[in-house]
Amino acid sequence: VATGKPAAAHKTPTVVAHRGASAYAPENTLAAIDKAARMGFRWVENDVQRTKDGELVIVHDDNLKRTTNVEEVFPDRAPWKVKDFTAAEIAELDAGSWFGEKYKGARVPTLTQYMNRVSRNHQSLVLEIKKPELYPGIEQDTLRVLRKTGWLDRNHVKNKLVIQSFGADSVKKVHELRPDVKTGFLGTPAVADLPAYAKFADQINSTHTSISADYVAAIHALKGPHGKRLEIFTWTVDEAAAAQRVAGFGVNGIITNKPDVVRGAIRG
Ligand code: G3P
Ligand code: CA
Repeated sequence: VATGKPAAAHKTPTVVAHRGASAYAPENTLAAIDKAARMGFRWVENDVQRTKDGELVIVHDDNLKRTTNVEEVFPDRAPWKVKDFTAAEIAELDAGSWFGEKYKGARVPTLTQYMNRVSRNHQSLVLEIKKPELYPGIEQDTLRVLRKTGWLDRNHVKNKLVIQSFGADSVKKVHELRPDVKTGFLGTPAVADLPAYAKFADQINSTHTSISADYVAAIHALKGPHGKRLEIFTWTVDEAAAAQRVAGFGVNGIITNKPDVVRGAIRG
């Protein structure tokens, strides 16, 4: 639905620390969100997947090789898929050494551990349901953990949480299950298709290389499911020039591994 109103003056975009401050600490660990907090960043992003025994864990790839020592600990378990390991097995892994000796012993957090730490740090979260096609029912599971950790109370839902996915069906499902929760679709749909997405997503979150001022304007010309202007959080922007470019388009958020670089580039 077009608003018919002229575009509002650009606000400074929200800076979101991608997988935590992941240029400076191992991605998707508690150390990475603590680092973002110490650097003064309120918003962080993560990736949620599910173990063999149904625990939700924070990890980006669907196998554990790149960001843990799984090959060393479980040499006979190729291809080391997240879904083939129990939570107890994953808890044994070192998710920090690959990044630097200083982070040796960092763990793959469960979603519960992660949410408790985000709360303790007074942070806000763009939670990504990663590869939902591998994990039927992960939307319900995620919402269950969010409810238990206090993240579906009014204040959190209103101000501190976005659930996003590359899977449109997954985003739609979250919206149906909890219409009050803000959602994001990851991708760059054709402008003609944006109204269909705006029925269930409050944000269209596109790669920064795929967008233009016109595309951002087309997003902002629509209203999302909560009757507010559709938003865009763009990713993954690590260079000052790229940050200035997308800020000039009026994006609502910038997701970055280097939040300090983006903050420096778009300030003032
Ligand atoms: O938040 C956007 C971004 O995280 C999506 O890509 O592969 O880093 O999860 P990826
Ligand atoms: Ca992600």
